[in-house]
Order: sequence, then structure tokens, then C-alpha cells
Amino acid sequence: MLSGKTLVLGVTGSIAIYKGADLASKLTQAGAKVEVIMTESAAQFVSPMTFRSVTNRPVVTSLWEMASEFSIEHVALADAADIIVIAPATANIIAKIAGGIADDSLTCTVLATKAPVVIAPAMHTNMYQNQVTQENIAKLKARGVTFVEPGYGRLASGGVGQGRLAEIETIIGTIKQVLGRNGDLAGKRIVVTAGGTREAIDPVRFIGNRSSGKMGYAVAEAARDRGAQVTLVTAPTALPDPTGIEVVHIQTALQMKEAVTKAVAGADALIMAAAVADYMPKSQAARKIKKAAAGPTLNLELIRTPDILTETRGNFLRIGFAAETEDLVEHAREELEKKQLHMVAANDVTAPDSGFEVDTNRITIITRDGKAEPLPLMTKRDVADRILDRVVGMFKATDSKSVTINVTKTVKNQGWFTIPVKGRALFPEAGHEITLLTEDGEIATNRDKDWNIGANLKPWFRKHPELKEDDKLHITVIKPMERYHIKIEIVK
Ligand code: CTP
Repeated sequence: MLSGKTLVLGVTGSIAIYKGADLASKLTQAGAKVEVIMTESAAQFVSPMTFRSVTNRPVVTSLWEMASEFSIEHVALADAADIIVIAPATANIIAKIAGGIADDSLTCTVLATKAPVVIAPAMHTNMYQNQVTQENIAKLKARGVTFVEPGYGRLASGGVGQGRLAEIETIIGTIKQVLGRNGDLAGKRIVVTAGGTREAIDPVRFIGNRSSGKMGYAVAEAARDRGAQVTLVTAPTALPDPTGIEVVHIQTALQMKEAVTKAVAGADALIMAAAVADYMPKSQAARKIKKAAAGPTLNLELIRTPDILTETRGNFLRIGFAAETEDLVEHAREELEKKQLHMVAANDVTAPDSGFEVDTNRITIITRDGKAEPLPLMTKRDVADRILDRVVGMFKATDSKSVTINVTKTVKNQGWFTIPVKGRALFPEAGHEITLLTEDGEIATNRDKDWNIGANLKPWFRKHPELKEDDKLHITVIKPMERYHIKIEIVK
């Protein structure tokens, strides 16, 4: 997502500037066009040549120098920027920006830009905690600037405290999150699960599986980068918590179920990439099981865990993964039907380059229309984006749909009709009560088993006695994922 983006990187006079060079390098490697602006004091710490070398771009150091192809740099860079990032940012630059001062290339660019601004402070703890710095930060936050909190640790001064430049990965994660704000999943809330659950046998042992969590984390990060508000419910993994995502750590299938049930309230989609244990020990020993006491064989009685996907129902898209070792598509179709899912991403876990622990995956996407689309081998991040492309498509398909019904004798007498729902994926489960809002008030209705949406029009008919048999009604269901809002018009 950084590819093709113009990123203005402001670097200021902090010892953390060497990390700024690393940041510039990583952003460039990720495909961004990185335009570096150094303040005068930054140039005292490192030579502009360092940044020039890692970005392959001229570096702007002074308002008066023609350092790049930009003629009036501060305006040109301010216009060209998709985002401005200041890392490391001193207390001084934060104060200047908060005060609207524009006395060098960087402050002029920030004042002239309409692009989002991300600031990663790095300074001595006392300077960071000083009331004036905190007031300046609060002021800028209120104006929409995003801050990447400095970390705790050893500072250049020798002391320990908050003030260290945030980790480069955290800064990059924040940049992606800010750039993704207007993405195609903006405004959507997505819950993703990841990792393999651990079912305790005793305080030191558990039953686990080979899931690394990489696929789920990739989906969560891709959704974040496309503007979604993401909650990641994760079993233990070796992966760091992604930036800009609400991460809920759990261990067992039961805990995952509880966390998912909570997280899906108000969500638009649940993507279950976790490898949830299907069985757990019936009881857990309170103390470590000793060999001497257990004897030559140890029998564990296992009981089924709840199926989270099946039991977590509601007005949101439900997407499952199917890890199979044979008859991939057939099993995935069965799962789709059995768990009433909107989509299944199936992968053959016997292939060495696909499935558990590796960075690549080869999946087949199966949807309710019965289609199976096999995707070539790609990185888990690319797989995540392909899955989300489908999710976006499903959201779009149902943002608004309309249908024209004939007012038949039955409709008029019974005051009831059903709409065959084509994009059935986004309608609630069968038997689920919903409310249709019309200009004339609410219509309570429900979904019957045939994927139809039925509406009781009696109250509406009562208000429209002029309606005759053979008249037509045009019914629009607006944004069914958010609200079952319908508009009824009599077709003239
Ligand atoms: N899943 C779940 N709760 C469980 C087990 C699995 O929600 N207790 C979810 C997984 O996260 C995955 C999907 O269900 O998205 C498929 O799980 P899997 O166990 O592979 O499929 P099953 O249909 O249970 O197949 P099998 O009978 O082969 O175990």
C-alpha cells in the first residue's frame, strides 16, 4: 500500500535520527517515493547524503537552496505529499508546528499541506513530559495530527524513561493506518481471529496445533490498511501486536468464543482464520501430572469445543477458513453450507509452500453462489487482500438493492410479500427478526428459510387504501448491512 505514494519525511535534530535513516530506507524499499526534509540541526547529526543514499532522492535542507526538482519546495512538496511523517520529532519542531511557525523548509511544508501528518517524537523524558510539550501535542492531536507515542527505555542522556523513538515497525504501521483511512473498507468494523488455540491438560501442558497466526495477522493488517476498524482476537503466536488494531489475547477455544462474541457486536464481518481446537481435555489437572502417578499410559478424555463460527450469528458477514488435506473444494463447500457462511478460504495444508508456518499460501475461494476460484501461490498478505476484495464486493453489492413486486390478491389480502434476496450473503440468518424502516414507520419482518426476505405490509396497506391489485410496488432496501431501511414507492 506504500507503493506509489509520495511520503515527505521530516527529520529533526535528535540522536534518534539514525533510526530515521532506517525508516527512510524501509519506506523506500516498500515502494514509497520518500522526499526527505532535514532541519538545520538534523544536518548537524548526520549528513544529508545518508538520506539521499537510502531514498535515491535529493534531500531538502534549506528554504533557500534548490535541492530538488521542486521549484518552490515547501509548496510543491506540501502539494505532492500523500502523507507527511516527522520522525524523529524534537520538542522544538512540535512546538513550532503547534504555534504555526514557518521558518524553515519542514515547518513551511507542514503549514502548507493538506495531507495527513504523523509525528513520532523522540526526546528526553523531562522534555516530553513537560506541560508545554504535552499541551502542544494535545493541540496538534485536536487538529487531526497523529502521534506515534515514544517508548520507554534507556535514553541517550543515560537515564531511563519515556522518550525513545517508537519502533520503526510501529511508525510504518501508523503510516499505513493513516493512509488507509479513505480505503475501501473505511467505516467498516471487522473482527479477525488468528493463531492456534491451546487447550490445557495441566498447568504446564496443552494441546495445540501448528498454526503460526501469520494468515490471520495478514488479514487484520490488510483490513486496517484499507481503512477498517479491526479487532484481532488471537491465540498465542510469535508475532508482535500490529499497530492500529485492537488486539485481544486469548489462549483457549472457550476464551476465543467469549472474546469473539463480544467483539462482533456491531461488526460488519467476522473472518475466522484461527485454527480453533475441535477438542479440549474434559478436565484440567490442577497440578502437573506426574509420571509416577499416571503410570505407563495416560488417557485423556477429550470433549468437543463449541464451533465459534456456527454459534456466532448476527447481521454480519461470516468467513471461514478450511484447512484440508484432501478433497479441498468439496469439504469447503460442505463447511460453507453446514456453518451457513458467506465465504470459505480453503487451503491444502499438505503442500510445503502453503498453509501452516510458511509465509505463502495457495487458497481457493468458495462463495455462496457455488463458485470456487483457485488462486495461485502468493504471500499471505496478498491472499488477505484477495479475500478482502471479495468482502468489499459483497458490501457493495448490498449497499442498496431494489425489487419491484406486483400487488397480487394474496399480497393485498395477506399484507405480506417476500423479496428473493440475490445478494443473500448479507441478509441475516433464517428466522432472524429484523425491522424495515419505511417513510410510514417500521415494518417488522423476518428471514424465512429460503433466503427470502419477507415483509409484513399490513400497516403500510392500511395507510394506502388507494392501492389496487396489479399495481406495482418498487421497494428499495438501503444498506442492509447497517440498517434494514426500505423505501416503498407505488409504480405509476
Ligand atoms: N472454527 C470455529 N470453531 C471451532 C473450530 C473451527 O469457529 N471450534 C472455524 C475455524 O476458524 C475455521 C473454520 O471453522 O474458519 C473451519 O474449521 P475446521 O475445523 O477446519 O472445519 P470443520 O468444518 O470443523 O472440519 P473438520 O470436521 O475437518 O474439523
